[in-house]
Amino acid sequence: MSRLVCVSNRITLPRKAAAPGGLTVGILSALKRSGGLWFGWGGETVDTEPGEPDIHIREGVTYATIELRKHDFDLYYNGYANEVLWPLFHYFLKGMRYSHEQRDAYEDVNRQFAQKLMPLLESRDVIWVHDYHLIPLGRSLREAGARQPLGFFLHIPFPNIEMLRVLPSYAELLRDLTHYDVVGFQTHNDLRAFQSGIEQVLGKEAMRGDGRIRVGERWVRAEVFPIGVDIDVVREEAVAAVGSEVVRRMSDSLMGRSLMMGVDRLDYSKGLVERFSAYQHFLEAFPENLGRITYIQIAPLSRQDVKGYTEIRQSLEQAAGRTNGRFADTDWTPIRYLNRNFAHPVLMGFLRAAKVGLVTPLRDGMNLVAKEFVAAQDADDPGVLILSTLAGAARELNTALLVNPYDYRAVGHAIQAALSMPLGERRERHASMMQVLKRNDIGAWTRRFLDALEQSAQGESRVRAIANSG
Ligand code: F6P
Repeated sequence: MSRLVCVSNRITLPRKAAAPGGLTVGILSALKRSGGLWFGWGGETVDTEPGEPDIHIREGVTYATIELRKHDFDLYYNGYANEVLWPLFHYFLKGMRYSHEQRDAYEDVNRQFAQKLMPLLESRDVIWVHDYHLIPLGRSLREAGARQPLGFFLHIPFPNIEMLRVLPSYAELLRDLTHYDVVGFQTHNDLRAFQSGIEQVLGKEAMRGDGRIRVGERWVRAEVFPIGVDIDVVREEAVAAVGSEVVRRMSDSLMGRSLMMGVDRLDYSKGLVERFSAYQHFLEAFPENLGRITYIQIAPLSRQDVKGYTEIRQSLEQAAGRTNGRFADTDWTPIRYLNRNFAHPVLMGFLRAAKVGLVTPLRDGMNLVAKEFVAAQDADDPGVLILSTLAGAARELNTALLVNPYDYRAVGHAIQAALSMPLGERRERHASMMQVLKRNDIGAWTRRFLDALEQSAQGESRVRAIANSG
């Protein structure tokens, strides 16, 4: 039996508040099923030479955390990962700031990950690397002698070559991805974008009709694996949390008003400023809703040392203040805007209590909150999901109310349509989305990716055996 080794930039230790986002949910679910090792940065920076990995074992999962030097971390995480790759991959060129220093630190930290991981590896391991922080890790591991099957999954969008070309080292980035045996993307759009880059760097002849890429003697499988949610866990958490004190306090405070919920990490890609404008437009266009709806936006702070994030925070505070200043009454606040995180079950309880879920990112790899909102609903009386066409989830959840997040009028009208949607239509839309979620839940995502990795590893040894026998 192989052992699963997941690697990501940040890891969530048991009993610490889970970092929001699909990555943690996905990795934990994969590891809880099969056991294995989760390796990554533990969240601490140091001024001296980082020590050896810290090891914790909990419920069949081994957590190995490393420290990073503060200077390296600033350049690698705040810098290259979040001031270069994140804005570029989300098509926000305005926020991108490239420097060679950052790029060198990115390479160097990836090498540090490989050096610290190598002694922990066993020959039967299958290694699954997650997200844009660690694109060169596959190459670094191979250079350090790792022979195990290597997979990579990108949780965020992949940009088309015409956008990617802005990056001075775009060709190296694409070549780095070909060091993996399997490269996974959230949507067909992302896969096509990756293929557009590969064609340019390796030539059309490297691409096979079945989507595989020929790199020297090896094959790389590039495929779509849309991440899903654990429907049963979300439903159980949501049902249990509705009776909890924190969700009851929130529900009681609504005084019978309809609840609209948004839950997003505070990030400019989430479209919160545009969402607040759309809500303001909705209140202007449909004044019969004044005093009858409460919009709660939960937006935990993130990446606060990156300039774009401090700017967006200020803009949002102003936007929320403007709307509340203009429309609030002595007994009603139109927007409740909270920069704090809640435990996952509590969030699921909030989502279940909402009549409308507002998920309008300007660009998003998948967006699991959209899927969680659907899974958390009461099927007999479900709330309505308003979803951005620019989120990966819109490819699958096509019976949500789909909106262009930049079109504040369309979003405002969708809010009105959601609030007045008849029960029959709400049930139909919800049932059809649930079918999609069941077909492609988090277990299916894990199985499909790991099967592809196992198969490609066997395929590669066949290719090698054929090559050697010739
Ligand atoms: O999904 C994108 C992602 O960057 C994940 O890699 C990460 O777990 C999550 O968002 C939260 O980001 P950060 O670790 O930068 O707070």
